[in-house]
Amino acid sequence: MILIIDFGSQYNQLIARRVREHHVYCQIEPPDISLAAVRALAPEGIILSGGPASIYAKSAPRVDRGIFGLGIPVLGICYGLQYMVETLGGTVLSSTKREYGFAELIVKKSRGIFSGVSKKTQCWMSHGDTIGALPDGFSVTASTSSTQVAAAEDGKRRFYGLQFHPEVVHTHEGRRMLANFLFDICRCEKTWSMKSFVAQAVEEIRAQVGEEKVILGLSGGVDSSVAAVLLHEAIGRQLTCVFVDNGVLRAGEAARVIDMFKKHLRINLRFARAGGVFLKKLKGVADPEKKRKIIGRTFIEVFDAEARKIKGVKFLAQGTLYPDLIESRSAFGGPSAVIKSHHNVGGLPKKMKLRLIEPLKHLFKDEVRLLGKELGLADDVVWRQPFPGPGLAVRILGDVSAQRLAVLRKADTLLLEEIRAAGLYYRLWQSFAILLPLKSVGIMGDQRTYENIVAIRAVTSDDAMTADWARLPQDLLARISTRIINEVRGVNRVVYDISSKPPSTIEWE
Ligand code: XMP
Repeated sequence: MILIIDFGSQYNQLIARRVREHHVYCQIEPPDISLAAVRALAPEGIILSGGPASIYAKSAPRVDRGIFGLGIPVLGICYGLQYMVETLGGTVLSSTKREYGFAELIVKKSRGIFSGVSKKTQCWMSHGDTIGALPDGFSVTASTSSTQVAAAEDGKRRFYGLQFHPEVVHTHEGRRMLANFLFDICRCEKTWSMKSFVAQAVEEIRAQVGEEKVILGLSGGVDSSVAAVLLHEAIGRQLTCVFVDNGVLRAGEAARVIDMFKKHLRINLRFARAGGVFLKKLKGVADPEKKRKIIGRTFIEVFDAEARKIKGVKFLAQGTLYPDLIESRSAFGGPSAVIKSHHNVGGLPKKMKLRLIEPLKHLFKDEVRLLGKELGLADDVVWRQPFPGPGLAVRILGDVSAQRLAVLRKADTLLLEEIRAAGLYYRLWQSFAILLPLKSVGIMGDQRTYENIVAIRAVTSDDAMTADWARLPQDLLARISTRIINEVRGVNRVVYDISSKPPSTIEWE
């Protein structure tokens, strides 16, 4: 395995994903990890990540310098390089100017990290401080026109440093450089695959759970579905899943989940039909944050009541993913402003006094999908578009009522039918309908109408952090509009949302 020390760079998770794409397992740990813990992990190599700090800042993060005495190869990236240079006796020149963007890298020594890399190649720079003098034993291996020490190495001790970011695609041969580090320098083997993960995870789950019972909140989305199937593989009937119908699901969603998990996968499933409770509490509430909070709280109450009906449960399983884990313990920020309070199955009540089991907590989303495939889940589950926990309640602007839900459900179903028929469902990050709290005038036959407006949202995205509105074909938009207006009673106008994120968000509330 490769140990990545997290100095706070926005690209850290990318480094981890790149390493895993080479089928090498890696773990991201904070800089305060003890030397004993590093030894216990027994990594083949250590990567010191980039970070926003200057090495001279008071709060500059540092890792135990003992890591340089373990005989393990080290790759420092950006701040990681500067930290290594400073710690080993070189100097870093502080600068108030930032070099940011593309640069041409001129490779001086085509060996080590640069084995097989072109003499001139594009790299991506993002740093303030630069390297002055290198520590004893180091030499410069690459430069750019403005950065003399763009890369350096001490081949004997197997210490390598890059001032640029090999993990971003803008560094054209970055993949090759990382592969050189992993395989030529650290002698890693390609052992990380979802097949090997399943075998190991099943063993770990069995060891952790023993004979006890586990419950898991199933949402129907990818993460909780994959977690359920993995747990079922490990402990079979000791697992009970709880699915809460909160009344703001899409058409047919509850039936789909029951059918798949109970009938098809034969997993213990409890189904709480709680739509009435949710809708009662949502009555007259138009504020988006209030809606989210009500749904979050009510979910916990319903889930808790359901869990109590199962005797002797000791564990609560959650489909927490690696990015959540990394961000939750990061010393460098995390989400600063609450844009929307997310309600997920995660964060269930501490008062339930259950022990947590999170079998996906070291996986990235793309790995969870591969794992789902490995476990035999259908594409329809594994590649499902995300659906927010508060469901259609945040897609009905204004009051949520049974009648408005029926209108939106029907419009949403038609939209998805057309998107699927056009072969676009899996190419879009999300596609859905929104019901606006406005009415407009229309004409149907010879009659004046005064009815609802439905908005269509379709976006492309890699990770939901940013998104672009999808350039759907005009004839598809025309079909969607015609069908919604003709087939959904109470709608006489359809509009298309042409805003990207940022500054808009994907969901309207
Ligand atoms: P926004 O609207 O913030 O959404 O651009 C980003 C992504 O998150 C989804 N979303 C949620 N997912 N619980 C979830 O599990 C929630 O409360 C929630 N709210 C938004 C949204 O659908 C999009 O994919």
